[in-house]
Amino acid sequence: MLTQPLIFLDNQYHELNNDGEDVIQGLTQTPKSLPPKYFYDERGSQLFEQICQLPEYYPTRTEAWILSQYADEIAQMTGSCELVELGSGSSTKTRLLLDSYQKIADDCRYLPIDISGGILKTSVLQLQQQYPDFSIQGLLGTYEQALAHLESNSLRYSLRPASGLSRMIFFLGSSMGNFTPQESDLFLSQIAHALKPGDYFLLGIDLQKPKEILEAAYNDSQGVTAAFNLNMLSHLNWRFQGNFELNFFTHQAIYNQADAQIEMYLHCQENHWVSLDILNLKVSFQAGESILTEISRKFDLAIIQKQLAAQGLKTLKTWTDPQQWFGLILCQAQ
Ligand code: AVI
Repeated sequence: MLTQPLIFLDNQYHELNNDGEDVIQGLTQTPKSLPPKYFYDERGSQLFEQICQLPEYYPTRTEAWILSQYADEIAQMTGSCELVELGSGSSTKTRLLLDSYQKIADDCRYLPIDISGGILKTSVLQLQQQYPDFSIQGLLGTYEQALAHLESNSLRYSLRPASGLSRMIFFLGSSMGNFTPQESDLFLSQIAHALKPGDYFLLGIDLQKPKEILEAAYNDSQGVTAAFNLNMLSHLNWRFQGNFELNFFTHQAIYNQADAQIEMYLHCQENHWVSLDILNLKVSFQAGESILTEISRKFDLAIIQKQLAAQGLKTLKTWTDPQQWFGLILCQAQ
């Protein structure tokens, strides 16, 4: 059944649903930082797709391997579902799950959620062709908007299926690693609120491993991650009428062992000023200072299960790869 490919979660759907307050805050504090959501304009989303193919960037292919081995088991454990994917991107790995659900049911719904409209629309149109028995609709917006939307049964687009299907929210690719611990707690509580008892949550997380492997994954030899990091400045130039000079910055990712997180920086090479006219902001940069653009936390399977349990999300089963580099956790809301 073909339906409208996209639902816009906010009438300002093409914006990131804020007025750049977070940019002003990040660039006026010491040390400077910028929110990672500004990576994802159309070009940033394409660069991220390229990162996922890089030989050094193991998370995507490792998680895909786990799904290729265990997606049938996951589908059998949950039965037919309304599948809600947060941050779906091109939904490549999702096909592994959809194939398994197709084997057990023909009444599944798939609702991918992303902030990048171009990629979301393309993948929804492809998936509608590929899985004609499933009801598939993309939700264009941020995680916050999507979770608030899913939580509410009274909104204009009530998504809760009348058929009484269980819901499984899934969040793959270790994207939770890009949240601070406080943001993760808030996020998990929002997930728990968007589920009824008996519903499911499937979480993909990158696990702790030697520093060399981690740093190589985020400082790839082809420079795609560097282009992805620098593209954030182009995006800010476009969005806020800025004049960041990309040549004045270089990319570096380091593994902070104490906090078990990759930290991605843009290091400034020249003293200069940057203006972001729409934000009425003028910022001084010194050679040698850095902007923190992303953290990517690396998890311990036992600890994360306790955090999930604290939100009423009980682990049913975990899966990993032979090297134990990446983990998948299936939880059930209590
Ligand atoms: C989206 N996220 C899980 C990626 C990560 O690995 O933290 C983003 C990324 N940044 C640089 N490379 C990939």
